[in-house]
Amino acid sequence: MRRRSTAANLPDQMERVVGKNQRSRICFLASLSALFWFLLFYFHFVVLGNGSVDDSGVKLPSSTNPVNNEFIDKFRVSEVRVDTETTMKGLVSKSRVDGVPEVRVGKELNKKDRVKESFQFMKALKTIENKSDPCGGKYIYVHDLPPKFNEDMLKECKSISLWTNMCTFTSNAGLGPPLENVEGVFSNTGWYATNQFAVDVIFNNRMKQYECLTKDSSIAAAVFVPFYAGLEISRYLWGYNISVRDAASLELVDWLAKRPEWSVMGGKDHFLVAGRITWDFRRLSEQDSDWGNKLLFLPAARNMSMLVVESSPWNANDFGIPYPTYFHPAKDADVFNWQDRMRKLDRPWLFSFAGAPRPDNPKSIRGQLIDQCKKSKVCKLLECDFGESKCHSPSSIMQMFQSSLFCLQPQGDSYTRRSAFDSMLAGCIPVFFHPGSAYTQYTWHLPKNYTKYSVFIPEDDIRKRNISIEERLMQISVVDVRIMREDVIGLIPGLIYADPRSRLETLKDAFDVAVQAIIKKVTKLRRDIVEGHTDDNFVEENSWKYELLDEGQREVGAHEWDPFFSKPKDGNADSGDSSAEAAKNSWKNEQRDKS
Ligand SMILES: *[C@@H]1O[C@H](CO)[C@@H](O)[C@H](O)[C@H]1NC(C)=O
Ligand SMILES: *[C@@H]1O[C@H](CO)[C@@H](O)[C@H](O)[C@H]1NC(C)=O
Ligand SMILES: *[C@@H]1O[C@H](CO)[C@@H](O)[C@H](O)[C@H]1NC(C)=O
Ligand SMILES: *[C@@H]1O[C@H](CO)[C@@H](O)[C@H](O)[C@H]1NC(C)=O
Ligand SMILES: *[C@@H]1O[C@H](CO)[C@@H](O)[C@H](O)[C@H]1NC(C)=O
Repeated sequence: MRRRSTAANLPDQMERVVGKNQRSRICFLASLSALFWFLLFYFHFVVLGNGSVDDSGVKLPSSTNPVNNEFIDKFRVSEVRVDTETTMKGLVSKSRVDGVPEVRVGKELNKKDRVKESFQFMKALKTIENKSDPCGGKYIYVHDLPPKFNEDMLKECKSISLWTNMCTFTSNAGLGPPLENVEGVFSNTGWYATNQFAVDVIFNNRMKQYECLTKDSSIAAAVFVPFYAGLEISRYLWGYNISVRDAASLELVDWLAKRPEWSVMGGKDHFLVAGRITWDFRRLSEQDSDWGNKLLFLPAARNMSMLVVESSPWNANDFGIPYPTYFHPAKDADVFNWQDRMRKLDRPWLFSFAGAPRPDNPKSIRGQLIDQCKKSKVCKLLECDFGESKCHSPSSIMQMFQSSLFCLQPQGDSYTRRSAFDSMLAGCIPVFFHPGSAYTQYTWHLPKNYTKYSVFIPEDDIRKRNISIEERLMQISVVDVRIMREDVIGLIPGLIYADPRSRLETLKDAFDVAVQAIIKKVTKLRRDIVEGHTDDNFVEENSWKYELLDEGQREVGAHEWDPFFSKPKDGNADSGDSSAEAAKNSWKNEQRDKS
């Protein structure tokens, strides 16, 4: 799936070639560099001996082994000062807002203190140390965009979608119309018929409730751009030329770049949200026949972080956040009650599936899943195929998930599905078939150890080996199922979007988790800049691997999931469609879903 440019494929091939000899070469290089650094270290500290070396960011490792990676990494820092200065020049000298004097960048800047004073974001960074400020290090500055970038779209909500009356779904602060609890499947309050693409509006309204908003951008840990990027492109996906599709994006980045806040970090502390999949914003060519706009390829957007419900494994400027579910609690107690109920439910079905086959896509395993489900006595199926179906009724779907132990979540047209979040909300353990459906996608919201809360059955086990899902799931002991379900239920608060018109007392919802992650990311970047740390070996193509790294790790290597994310060469890896095709098809399904 998902086409990539030829250039983008190169690292793949290199990786393969490198893969074979990798181990011996790495060993060789490691020992070589170890020797080099040891000699350098020795010369510096023992021969020169006076310790006058500038130590901005360089701390001697506590480890007695001088050749560990951390040591090499940290020591390398002092050798890239030239780069640091270039970066600083770009960041520091441009803007003179707030009377911050233009800083001359030169050799005299090598002193740690002076470096620290010179970045515009130092004031923001320092608020972290202010123990009497509960918002220290957490402030968010929200750009006051012209209304055409957000509010006006809500006023013209009829034009957002050709098939769906989005006015219904932008009501109630983006939650949509309330769901009545007729069948007793939901709770009496907090349930809404939320559209799967409504996160733009929900997130923006949640931001209004954020505890640490500031009007002073100089203390902001991050800058939020309340552009309804998803709603905007929804209007023009079909039948409009590329200049119409790109117009708002171009206007937005033009507006942003003129703001003083932009020059502080070239926009690298900015973030925005689009409740659609990344492929709608990644048009590869300037041809009208190609899909979507080019927002995420604009230089300014490359510096920003865009939160989307499906991110690209190969790009570093987008991040996956959960699709909205139907549950939007207004207080903690509503969540706790829901969790308790999900613990106690009787679940007669071993597994279930709600979805349509993809007969046009020969690589899709959905047909096989549906066959297996039909043949199994312990599987419940909601077919979304033709005509009137229960598959789009929130209560039928939630009812089924609530009566199942496991819920199958194969890819659709793109990697991800809203359904994965609906099923976890129902305490149903998700079964994924592609790591891009969740594990490499929602790394902020889901635990790294996916075996705790889900089952992974690689697509090829179904496609080629025709393994029995029933048998595979039967192998999991009753005790383990209970432990896994408890984990899933424990994840619920962080996967849902609370009612943006009120505030949960203590629980952190999906919004809180995302904002915290953005702040952490920007803060780390600022510290790296201050310390002169650059990730010279960063390869954007490998973005998904970096997201899986443990705290403190910086380098990636070969990964067991490489075949899932490499371009199909023998027709076996991944599924063959282009990103444009995926996006287009998901739009078709949207039409089918909601008409
Ligand atoms: C620390 O935070 C408090 C509370 O917000 C504020 O009044 C004070 O000015 C801050 N101190 C510094 C040094 O910024
Ligand atoms: C694109 O479409 C708009 C209106 O639909 C039209 O005004 C404009 O001239 C078109 N641009 C190009 C380059 O075809
Ligand atoms: C992106 O950030 C870099 C600094 O890291 C800056 O040099 C560049 O101008 C920024 N791009 C835009 C379009 O502002
Ligand atoms: C992941 O979780 C499983 C189940 O709790 C456990 O057996 C396994 O050791 C964990 N793996 C890692 C790498 O922590
Ligand atoms: C897969 O296995 C089942 C029996 O477990 C069999 O009925 C079915 O025909 C097989 N499908 C394929 C495509 O081999």
